[in-house]
Amino acid sequence: MSKDELQASGGSDRRGFMRGVLAMITGTLALLGPLVGGLAVVLEPLRQKKHGQAGGFIKVGQLASLPNNGLPKKYDILADRQDAWNRYPNVPVGSIYLRRTEDDQITAFNIICPHAGCFVQVDQQQKQYNCPCHNSQFKLDGSKSNADNPSPRGMDPLDVEIRNGDEIWVHYQSFKTGVADRIPNS
Ligand code: FES
Repeated sequence: MSKDELQASGGSDRRGFMRGVLAMITGTLALLGPLVGGLAVVLEPLRQKKHGQAGGFIKVGQLASLPNNGLPKKYDILADRQDAWNRYPNVPVGSIYLRRTEDDQITAFNIICPHAGCFVQVDQQQKQYNCPCHNSQFKLDGSKSNADNPSPRGMDPLDVEIRNGDEIWVHYQSFKTGVADRIPNS
């Protein structure tokens, strides 16, 4: 075979090789497309699961429903719950205490006792919170009030916002119990 014939043959092999590589890349991309699309469909319910959960701000009620007498009032938290394939609108996900003082300061606490998760109650006479399970007592500002309080921390405060002039919105969260640090539950 002459030198020219050898060069021509080499060029043809290289072109063939490049065509093969190109075909392989195109084939792989064609296969990946449906795979990625399918993955998105499978993961979609998991992604949507976050929507409507109680982690964000939730409208709790109207400002007019909360007297500015400085006494805590219990509110249920209603939110949309969604599992992988079903949506449950407006179901109870927890409860909080709201307190509004004369100067219109509003505070919110999760009703769950940080000791072991019982529901804290309000003693309107004593103007404090009591937990019936192991006798933790808390001041109206949420701090521990009795010396033998078994709770590792005060009550868990929640962020409050007034929106549209008269709507109370609360950033609802629950936290790990039995530990001193305030660690949000996932
Ligand atoms: S759960 Fe409240 S004091 Fe133990």
